[in-house]
Amino acid sequence: MLSTLRQQMITALADGQFHSGAHLADALGVSRAAIHNHIEALEQMGLDLYRVKGKGYRLAHPLSLLDGSALGAEQRDAPLHLFWQLDSTNAFLLERAKRCQNGEACLAEMQTGGRGRRGRTWVSPIASHLYLSYFWCLDQGLAAAGGLSLAVGVMLCEALESLGIQGLTLKWPNDLYLGGRKLAGILVEVSGQQGEACELIIGCGVNVTMPESVAAQIDQPWADLTSEWDTPDRNLLARTVLAHLDEGMRIFEQQGLSPFVERWQQRDQFANQPVKLLLGSQVLEGVARGIDPQGHLQLALPDGTVRRFAGGELSLRARD
Ligand code: BTN
Repeated sequence: MLSTLRQQMITALADGQFHSGAHLADALGVSRAAIHNHIEALEQMGLDLYRVKGKGYRLAHPLSLLDGSALGAEQRDAPLHLFWQLDSTNAFLLERAKRCQNGEACLAEMQTGGRGRRGRTWVSPIASHLYLSYFWCLDQGLAAAGGLSLAVGVMLCEALESLGIQGLTLKWPNDLYLGGRKLAGILVEVSGQQGEACELIIGCGVNVTMPESVAAQIDQPWADLTSEWDTPDRNLLARTVLAHLDEGMRIFEQQGLSPFVERWQQRDQFANQPVKLLLGSQVLEGVARGIDPQGHLQLALPDGTVRRFAGGELSLRARD
């Protein structure tokens, strides 16, 4: 659990400078031994910390901590919830979905139960990445949400590109890649009854600065933003993503996926490449031919036919 004392320690250390144990103990009104124990706990949460005799403790990189005013929370039309720690930002908004407004959003410094697609865990170390969830209610119901996650992939790519990040691609349906490795993931969760308005929770996880201590836990090749952005500013990043979601969701609500299809194809990581498609226990080999107007993957099979695949248990791999 992230106690107030640990929050204060992270805030003190965020500048990336050395802070002696004695100074931290004095400033926070606890013993040096207590500081030492809390430092160990913070390391276990994923903070990369150095200790140098005679100088004290220092973070490997300065942290840009989330901050309501830097996020422009007051200027937003809908509430922006900001937490040090949550189980999952998606779970938070899902739980209050009936009371949410369009554009209501939630950010956390860390998640203890970050959710990925297909029941996976989304590793969510403290103050390192972006964990953001966003609410939208589609009055037209679930049928109108088809292709939404692909549209969100485009919105997220364009948000990052507007900050100068180059070389982003999309892996069907909605993973963001940088230099051929996964940079960000999107998990859209839906609540509501068939035939009624549907409540959408759009969860975005973006790797900003991957802590060394956490990298080993990630079971696939990953990228973070540090190769493209010297000192990433997570408040600017979150504000920019929110602005693109605000605009993109208004467009999606009126026009559906169509304004996003070409923009998705332009960034297709696997366009015209030989791929394998895992469909449950079945493996299909073919050549990826982008998406159709509904966002289905088009796969050219060895027999010359082109088959289309919707979401669900599909996954795509470059042929090895
Ligand atoms: C994926 O598996 O690619 C999707 C990952 C989505 C992670 C984000 S982080 C913010 C939001 N809250 C969650 O629990 N998951 C999403």
